[in-house]
Amino acid sequence: MSVPASAARPGSTSGSASAPTSGPTSGPSAGAPWWRSAVTYQIYIRSFADADGDGLGDVAGIRSRLPHLDELGVDAIWINPWYPSPQADGGYDVADYRDIDATFGTREEAEALIADAHARGIRVLLDIVPNHTSDEHPWFVEALAAGPGSPERERYIFRSGAGPDGARPPNDWTSAFGGPAWRRVTEPDGAPGEWYLHLFDAKQPDLNWDNPVVQAEFESILRFWFDRGVDGFRIDVAHGLIKDPALPDLGQDGRHPMETVGGQGHPHWDRPGVHEIYRAWRKVADSYDPPRVFVAEAWVTSAERLAAYVRPDELHTAFDFDFVRAAWNAPALRATVTSSLAAHDSVGAPVMWVLSNHDIARHVTRLGRPSATRSDDPLHGHDAEDADPVLGRRRARAALLLELALPGGVYLYQGEELGLEEVEDLADEFRQDPVFLRTGGDHRGRDGCRVPLPWTSSGPSLGFGTAPGWLPQPAGWGGPLGLSVQVEAGDPSSMLAFYTRALRLRHELSDRGVLGAGDASSLTWSVADGPLADAVVAFTRPGGFACVVNTGGEPVRLADAVPAGFEAARVLLASDELAGDQLPSDTAVWLSV
Ligand code: GLC
Repeated sequence: MSVPASAARPGSTSGSASAPTSGPTSGPSAGAPWWRSAVTYQIYIRSFADADGDGLGDVAGIRSRLPHLDELGVDAIWINPWYPSPQADGGYDVADYRDIDATFGTREEAEALIADAHARGIRVLLDIVPNHTSDEHPWFVEALAAGPGSPERERYIFRSGAGPDGARPPNDWTSAFGGPAWRRVTEPDGAPGEWYLHLFDAKQPDLNWDNPVVQAEFESILRFWFDRGVDGFRIDVAHGLIKDPALPDLGQDGRHPMETVGGQGHPHWDRPGVHEIYRAWRKVADSYDPPRVFVAEAWVTSAERLAAYVRPDELHTAFDFDFVRAAWNAPALRATVTSSLAAHDSVGAPVMWVLSNHDIARHVTRLGRPSATRSDDPLHGHDAEDADPVLGRRRARAALLLELALPGGVYLYQGEELGLEEVEDLADEFRQDPVFLRTGGDHRGRDGCRVPLPWTSSGPSLGFGTAPGWLPQPAGWGGPLGLSVQVEAGDPSSMLAFYTRALRLRHELSDRGVLGAGDASSLTWSVADGPLADAVVAFTRPGGFACVVNTGGEPVRLADAVPAGFEAARVLLASDELAGDQLPSDTAVWLSV
């Protein structure tokens, strides 16, 4: 397959494969590579579009819906794992890294999708899962058969158990999905034997990254897909690959499942050794023309620790989860933006702003909870609180204008452009997330953000496919709420129309060097102290642009909230209707002078 055009996405809505090789020619983004400012759309393939009617999304479904993404105006897509997999963790249990799961399609279809996307100027990122394989991966099958002490076992983390008969796990580590992180195997002779480490599900044995065989295999997998035109990879659990070889006890602490964060000295999260791996990967990416890119999923304890992943000789970008975790109040938002920009600036990397993904409750729901304005664990701490989706959608619109106006790139999660909420009332029988299964239902898990997309207002799965989807959609989406691509595309006041307008305008402003790539020096705060500082986030960017967000509970006079010099500015876009000279609560505006 041919190497794609080295293209920043064209500002037009369709059709062109030949786009400029880099960003704008003037302003802070001048000449910047595409990934420094791109808006990337995450496709959770199981739930995006089902072309063959088996209830699961597929490659053909993505291909058929590329016009939607083109119309929306995204620069790139990131596709969650589509490899052959027993699907014990939504495909993050990979049995073959070089093929496509038969339920999703074929490699030929995948290559055709990459070509189709490129023809529209849309880049394609895949998801690589290097921390663990499936237990059905040939390597693990071989490791079980080969027995203790074999080179096959050395690709994973096998240990003898504790206690006189080895019947206790080697240490006290727990799985991020709940329960112990070790499982005992039966040896080829039928005797109870060694234990293997699985930081996630028992069907996801952790690889041994101290083994050069593992390192070489993943570099080869990267090349395999880069050779097929893939523009880059999102790296799953990028902070988890290296373990303290002494495997010390942790003294377990009753974390919430999916709290995959550990600070300095943690024996398996964010260990310094991971950086060597990414230096080697960067060399692989840089050996291509155009160079391929990476984005890390690294849950770490500070912006500085995240910045270590995006040093010039390591990964290009990493999701900014501090932004996800920030409370909806002006001081918290200013603080997280400031610290993320400063940390990234120190290594010359752009920030990747994100509000939702397939692992966390959708932000319409998070922002609609009473606790959204408080800075205590907004991600997981308040799952039980009732959310107000009307409030959540209002804040989600404002949050979009905020993140699109910040220097750097943005990741969108499928369905947020429709204003979908977390589906909190799924019946247990439908739930597939190992978090739900391994905690005995104590934690609902992540299925509620993975419900198939509604494309139309009727049909067995609202246009997702010709049959019911693998998870049921709420009745309201097709009914009174009118949440579907079909309905929203025809309604200028819909979330979809708003996202489309905002992305289009961001493109125009990026082409003029106003928005998009940039560092902290391309953003100037105003009203950061003074009477409105607790309610209002306001900043300017060079080129006569300002973004003003009222996160407070009361309207503010726009003239009081705008940066100096913007009193007579033109409103480019507002997240909700302005009320005379007032900026209503939970509303954002873009202004231009
Ligand atoms: C990442 C993925 C998540 C998966 C886990 C284990 O956090 O985003 O969906 O369950 O890694 O691979």
